[in-house]
Amino acid sequence: MAKRGRSVERSATYTASPNIALVKYWGMRDVALGLPWNSSLSVTLAGIATTTTVRFVPGQTLDTLVLNHRPATGPPLEAVRRFLDRVRGAAELREGADVASFNNFPTASGLASSASGFAALAGAASAAAGLRPSPRDLSRLARFGSGSATRSIFGGFVEWRAGVRVDGKDSYARPLFAEEHWPELVDLVCLLRNAPEKAVRSAEAMQGSVATSPRFAARQAAVPSRLRRMVRAIRDRDAGALFPLVMEECDDFRAVCETTIPSLDYLTPVSRAVLAEVRAANDERGATIAAYTHDAGAHVHVFTLREHAPMLQRRLRRIAGVDQVRSLRPGSGGHMVRGPAR
Ligand code: PMV
Repeated sequence: MAKRGRSVERSATYTASPNIALVKYWGMRDVALGLPWNSSLSVTLAGIATTTTVRFVPGQTLDTLVLNHRPATGPPLEAVRRFLDRVRGAAELREGADVASFNNFPTASGLASSASGFAALAGAASAAAGLRPSPRDLSRLARFGSGSATRSIFGGFVEWRAGVRVDGKDSYARPLFAEEHWPELVDLVCLLRNAPEKAVRSAEAMQGSVATSPRFAARQAAVPSRLRRMVRAIRDRDAGALFPLVMEECDDFRAVCETTIPSLDYLTPVSRAVLAEVRAANDERGATIAAYTHDAGAHVHVFTLREHAPMLQRRLRRIAGVDQVRSLRPGSGGHMVRGPAR
């Protein structure tokens, strides 16, 4: 049996899924604390996940990272190291850690691997360090890795409250509706062939928007009421109310990006063809049966109801340059797989 105490290695494994934002987080009011200007709203996705094991090793001074079975160095390792320093500080630990992280989906596919990645790291690292954070505390911790990771701690429909305090204590995620709340809702994720890699990290890019986009202030004024109306539409399972708001929000986010200096243009002609196809399908029906949205990347998520999904999937798959259309459902929040072992 292993001995208790600091001389024994401690490990834990935690898994979390990506989320797609319906109301985007784009801009920090406090960069050091990772505090957002506005509250955001997302859906955690089922069937795709990051699973991460963290092992603090007695006598080891450095951290190591294995990503999808390959040793990682450079910026990914640096980001993990900075995050672990925060956990070590809270737990009064000194040991270096071995981190192994695995995505069951392509890492560069645009399926928000930073959200699931840092949510999984937060869960595994804090448990391995002997901390016992509540899910709310875990969501506060995860935002230091990536803002969107704050929301991946919870399943279903999740709000990240911006908060107003300067110390950030009131900035955390909370689940609004469970994953089973709206069984008819599906997310058709259009993965593009040859999607370009992000040139600038989101955390930097969004601060460019705060500083230079003439649309930033107007967006801040519009978001609170848009978010409230979206929450009501989700509560009522009212696609006719929700879908136009999802596209309005996405268009607003894109306008802020495009008017940033230098301009942030995340879409490719293929992404724009997907948006056009959704608009055409809605026009033909004379009703909003689908809504597009995208993050800081070229892939596009198309929300619709189950009854329309096969028809839309056929139309979206026919677009040249669309590699795959995956049908995803709202899913569960982060959870411990194993540990903490001592
Ligand atoms: O979590 P970050 O720092 O990669 O920023 C996420 C930004 C968006 O994905 C564009 C919006 C969001 O709320 O997820």
